[in-house]
Amino acid sequence: MQLEITALPEAPLGAMIRGWEPSEPLDDAHRDEIVDALYRYRVLVFRDQPQPTDEELVRFVARFGQPIKGSEWFRNAGALPEILPVTNIRGGDGVRLGVEGATDLEWHADYSYVATPGKTSFLNAVELPAEPPRTYFCDMYRAFETLEPELKDRVRGLRATHSIADYMAEPERGFAAKVARDRAQGVDRPEIPEAEHPVVVRHPDTNHEILYVSRGITRRIVGMDRAESSALLKQLHLHATRPEVVYAHDWQVGDLIMFDTLGTMHRRDSWDPTQRRLMRQLSTACRVEAIA
Ligand SMILES: [Fe+2]
Repeated sequence: MQLEITALPEAPLGAMIRGWEPSEPLDDAHRDEIVDALYRYRVLVFRDQPQPTDEELVRFVARFGQPIKGSEWFRNAGALPEILPVTNIRGGDGVRLGVEGATDLEWHADYSYVATPGKTSFLNAVELPAEPPRTYFCDMYRAFETLEPELKDRVRGLRATHSIADYMAEPERGFAAKVARDRAQGVDRPEIPEAEHPVVVRHPDTNHEILYVSRGITRRIVGMDRAESSALLKQLHLHATRPEVVYAHDWQVGDLIMFDTLGTMHRRDSWDPTQRRLMRQLSTACRVEAIA
């Protein structure tokens, strides 16, 4: 395996990697090369390789950390627990095969609502509509670095709550049908957790400070009046997602994007709901004491 890594042209973050061979076990030298690129570019687009099997994908991800078994929380029947199908496709029983409808998805960091949140994430395009929705990424190291000094001092030491309870209760998510199916079949699944994290975390590998709040999942600054909390979160959000610091990805089937999910945020456009889109999503977990 010979990896070719090139910075994405005219993008504020991201690199393209060609030459990955999913059928080959990843040796230490290639893993280290990928990790170095990840912390340099934040977002890595693997393109033009054979599509990995589910087992190959999990084996690859496990070389970078402990995979989160997200499909247990999202109650996806049949999937490997480490692989979260992100799709609008329904099974024969009318229940969604994974999370999501065809709606847009707000800025977020994967699994920030978990005590041991997502550290590195992986998103692979299996099936795309004719006009695939873009996925957007922004750099939360840079977001923190470029805050005014007074604002940096203000947010260091604050904590915030993270939850997707309201989001999962929206009817278009189709989650209630999965809960009903599990009850009917006597299947016992864990509840989707909620968590509290510092507003500024240090990445356990890079030791750099990261602004760790998102519009999609962060609910409130702990101990702060609701109006003041909302105003501060909005100010941080607008700063972090200025258009000039965002990379917009145009998907091709087979693309695998690996990203520093602690150090970035991402969001997605909507698409024609009559067309199918299937992505495989995986994340590795941070140790909680690493960022607390
Ligand atoms: Fe995500």
